[in-house]
Amino acid sequence: MKLDNPLTGTMVSLDDWWMPFTANRQFKAAPRLLAKAEGMYYWTPDGRQILDGTAGLWCVNAGHNRKPIVEAIQKQAATMDYAPPFQLGHPVAYEAATAVANLAPAGMRHVFFVNSGSEAADTAIKMALAYHRAKGEPSRRIIIGRERGYHGVNIGGTMAGGIPGNRKVWPAMMAGVDHIRSTHDLARNAFSQGMPAHGAEFADELDRLVAFHDPSNIAALIVEPMAGSAGVLIPPQGYLEKLAATCRKHGILLIFDEVISGFGRLGTPFAAHYFNITPDILTCAKAINNAAVPLGAVLASDAVHDAIVNSAPEGAIEFLHGYTYSGHPLACAAVVATQKLYAEEKTFDRAREVAPYWQQALHSLKGARHVIDIRNLGLVGGIELEARAGSPGKRGLEAHIKCFEAGALVRCTADILALSPPLVIEHAQIDRIVDTIRGALQSID
Ligand SMILES: Cc1ncc(COP(=O)(O)O)c(C=O)c1O
Repeated sequence: MKLDNPLTGTMVSLDDWWMPFTANRQFKAAPRLLAKAEGMYYWTPDGRQILDGTAGLWCVNAGHNRKPIVEAIQKQAATMDYAPPFQLGHPVAYEAATAVANLAPAGMRHVFFVNSGSEAADTAIKMALAYHRAKGEPSRRIIIGRERGYHGVNIGGTMAGGIPGNRKVWPAMMAGVDHIRSTHDLARNAFSQGMPAHGAEFADELDRLVAFHDPSNIAALIVEPMAGSAGVLIPPQGYLEKLAATCRKHGILLIFDEVISGFGRLGTPFAAHYFNITPDILTCAKAINNAAVPLGAVLASDAVHDAIVNSAPEGAIEFLHGYTYSGHPLACAAVVATQKLYAEEKTFDRAREVAPYWQQALHSLKGARHVIDIRNLGLVGGIELEARAGSPGKRGLEAHIKCFEAGALVRCTADILALSPPLVIEHAQIDRIVDTIRGALQSID
């Protein structure tokens, strides 16, 4: 199959791009293609409008192709395309770091730039190990993650992640990690609105692992405060507080992976603010610059930063880590413009204001065909479908395809439909997404 690239006028083949997290053979036989975006919408190459129910991939929080961001990138590209970040600096990276630090939980102003959520997870893990070594406790090396957690696809994130399919091919990497159970509990929590009432005791799992491994061997716990990629799992009331208390008690660093919850998704700058829990290390990416140029960041507490930096000899590089593109000028210009836009338009407040309508609209799908649970928090939604006997995941994919054909982008993770629209979504657009899902579910077996 061939496709026209209107920007270059070239007819391109679909063969050569080995696509990520995609069933390449099936997809290329019947591709779903996007060619243009603006505001709440994508357009397919043949001009069909698609309402974006997923903010791309949890990342375009201000809506697509926002002019101030586009112009900032263009201006930066014309001024200085690239600058090396090792032992050299440039103004826009410092300005971007300050813009992010100004939103960070108190005492977490140290911003380390990376290029993605995956790199942020691996950087956070390395930072945790470097911290304990600097503090004279190098035996603290075990990283604890959570079943169904997702921390990207690099080595640290793959190890700490808890999605079986993402791990099974690389068993040799799995030393030095352990996992607490996921909080998914349909029997007690199905159709909870907001945070489920049951399940704080899932946090007791951490006590069990602490006793098992001994605190002197554990470096950090890494969790998504609100888990998205493995199917939108909302933390039960009281659960995160318990995890945080156990970490504090035993000197275990708490890493919040806020790659999807950062920058207003829950109506606050970070989920840390929403849950009123300050971690030691926080990772973010995606909406940091409205996903206009790849960028992620790791925010470190004063204690973590100071321990690592102050333990190195004067004049030495303190943290031997970094990427060619850490603090890339184009990505940082997009951060500065995005954060200005969020502040001017009060984007995070808007998410908070529209969240009750979102909740009520999503839960109107209770009773729709195949639906066995609906979960929501902030502008996040998860609709769990009953798996078709013998072919888990098929019904979810079919629902995703039907919605796309009907003009709405809805993500599927196995049989869970995941929703995370741009935070600028209007009530009528919420209704359209919900109606499209209802129709799609009606039309599939
Ligand atoms: C919680 C979380 N962490 C890490 C990542 C990985 O980010 P990236 O795909 O930018 O590497 C994701 C991606 O969705 C994510 O949801």
